[in-house]
Amino acid sequence: MPENWVDSVPDAIKAIGEKRVREYAASRHALALACELDSFEKLEIENHQYLKHHPEYAVSLSHTRGISAAIASKELKSIGIDLEHANRKFKPEVSKFFLTDQDDKMDLLVLWSAKEAAFKAIAPLGLKETLVLKDLVLKGDSVLFQGKVVSKWNSQTHDGLITSVAWV
Ligand SMILES: CC(C)(COP(=O)(O)OP(=O)(O)OC[C@H]1O[C@@H](n2cnc3c(N)ncnc32)[C@H](O)[C@@H]1OP(=O)(O)O)[C@@H](O)C(=O)NCCC(=O)NCCS
Repeated sequence: MPENWVDSVPDAIKAIGEKRVREYAASRHALALACELDSFEKLEIENHQYLKHHPEYAVSLSHTRGISAAIASKELKSIGIDLEHANRKFKPEVSKFFLTDQDDKMDLLVLWSAKEAAFKAIAPLGLKETLVLKDLVLKGDSVLFQGKVVSKWNSQTHDGLITSVAWV
């Protein structure tokens, strides 16, 4: 990252703490690289969906325990990314926040991660005022909302991480 990267982090983020500052800066540095922009200082994201100064780019960010990721596309309307450590453990009762009886059977952490990515791609479209993960159903490579396919998704496990993406 550029030497003066901390200068570009908003004070509100700095107030949260060093870990948050690093996540914020690293994810935006990754985004600047993905969009082939020289600097991440002016990477303003509108509606959690696209770059204010380069609206041709649909973008999304994720960070978890020391790792940050960004994704960008000039082809898609909206896109979402989620990163999870593959060894993350869930208490079984947590699944009630994201699992529905219509979801395809799959590893719960993959399902969680894919729904987080799908949420990020779909929430900016404003289909529902307070969208939650349980509004989304994963069937095959499709994400369904109210019975209709609204997005596609994919998930890969690599280097101890699960990376999920979803797109509209
Ligand atoms: C928005 C949400 C997906 C973000 O998850 P998170 O745990 O903070 O994880 P990540 O690090 O992967 O993602 C953070 C990034 O998501 C993006 N983001 C935040 N809100 C978003 C939204 N409404 N739409 C799209 N992207 C969003 C931001 O870029 C953020 O990074 P930033 O804070 O550096 O700008 C999650 O908090 C959420 O609201 N999930 C849906 C609600 C739900 O049903 N939860 C069920 C469990 S209780």
